[in-house]
Amino acid sequence: MEPAIDRILIDRLAIARRVGGMGDAIAADIADRRAASRLVVVPVMTGALVLTADLIRTLPVPMSISLVEASSYPGSAIASTGVRLDAGAPLEDLRGAYALVIDDILDSGRTLAAVADRVRAAGAAQVRTCVLLNKVVRRAVDDGAALRADFSGFCIPDVFVVGYGLDHDGLYRNLPDVAILGHGRAQPDRWRPLVVGLAGAVGAGKSRAARCLADLGMVVSDSDGDVASLFELAEVQGELASLFGPRVVAGGRVDRRAIADRVFADADERRRLEGVLHPRLHAMRRRRLAEASRTGAPGMVVDAPLLFEAGVDRECDLLLFVDTPADQRLERVRRTRGWDQAELARRQAAQMPPDQKRLRCHAVVDNSGDADDLARGVRDALRSAAPGVLEAGRCGGLAGPGGGG
Ligand code: IMP
Ligand code: MG
Repeated sequence: MEPAIDRILIDRLAIARRVGGMGDAIAADIADRRAASRLVVVPVMTGALVLTADLIRTLPVPMSISLVEASSYPGSAIASTGVRLDAGAPLEDLRGAYALVIDDILDSGRTLAAVADRVRAAGAAQVRTCVLLNKVVRRAVDDGAALRADFSGFCIPDVFVVGYGLDHDGLYRNLPDVAILGHGRAQPDRWRPLVVGLAGAVGAGKSRAARCLADLGMVVSDSDGDVASLFELAEVQGELASLFGPRVVAGGRVDRRAIADRVFADADERRRLEGVLHPRLHAMRRRRLAEASRTGAPGMVVDAPLLFEAGVDRECDLLLFVDTPADQRLERVRRTRGWDQAELARRQAAQMPPDQKRLRCHAVVDNSGDADDLARGVRDALRSAAPGVLEAGRCGGLAGPGGGG
């Protein structure tokens, strides 16, 4: 029997808003990489047709379009059967170009990875990938960077969706909303929790937002806490002493203040410290994510001060910007950490400017109110940027009408 539409998952207004946000983030990224001379948009046909039409009209830069065809769900199949790239029209010469590969959805991730490889082989200087939808749970905990998109609109659970370019057996592409197809309930053979990264200016209240996500069942990866436990390790203490002199380790304890004074005054010193800490922090996040996956937690939230600067954003599916007015941030760090205006400015100067962080995030959480407002804001942001993911639970599908599974 022909499956029918169950319900709308993301409506046209939410899509339009988010596509505008993706356009802003892409435009900023292009401006950052002036080395690449021209923009070539590479839509994966036919699913990327609608997103491409909307997205390119938000990009105020000269560009050309080079189509590729791929299919991994031939006909009416709803389980991925491997990627077939159309050998037809060869890609144009992309030498020196900033290539933006656009697809409708990242499922297993194989299509996008295969197209990106081909674009790279055609000589593109920069290759970026962009999808409207990201079916996170379908990928493995240890999937590498190849199976991710640089820009994404929404995270969705493991349901079969149609509309806004996505089809079932060639139909439904013209629906203006993204809708769940009735029988599109798959049982994932594995479960990969959503990885949520928190961004914000110094003192914005990321840790408070992390606690709100913990209340929703997510596991917390707290970088400050992880650094504190790394500083307890003799091996780490030895490396720090040889880099910064024996005085930074006294009586079996790392003098955090002494190290902070060194690294916030000197970028080279900071890189040396990061060389000791970052690989270990990365390994700790991986272990925690694997554990969250085993226990069926809906997600892992990453609370890391240098999310973008250290490339940790690339480990995240969803980025939330915690937005707090500057006077409230100063008041908070004064109270909780004893910092004054100058110390706040010094810490902030070591980070990416807040507006740039905000551009790269999927949603903004307002933290100018009280604890209840923040909890509500976090929940709302998650619901809009990852619709249905919290409700889906480990089975991957959604409870409710048309249920089962
Ligand atoms: P991947 O290679 O497994 O990431 O597959 C991506 C391709 O599968 C997309 O370009 C879509 O054409 C198709 N696909 C994956 N999930 C869905 C869905 O829920 N609805 C419609 N098409 C889908
Ligand atoms: Mg497709």
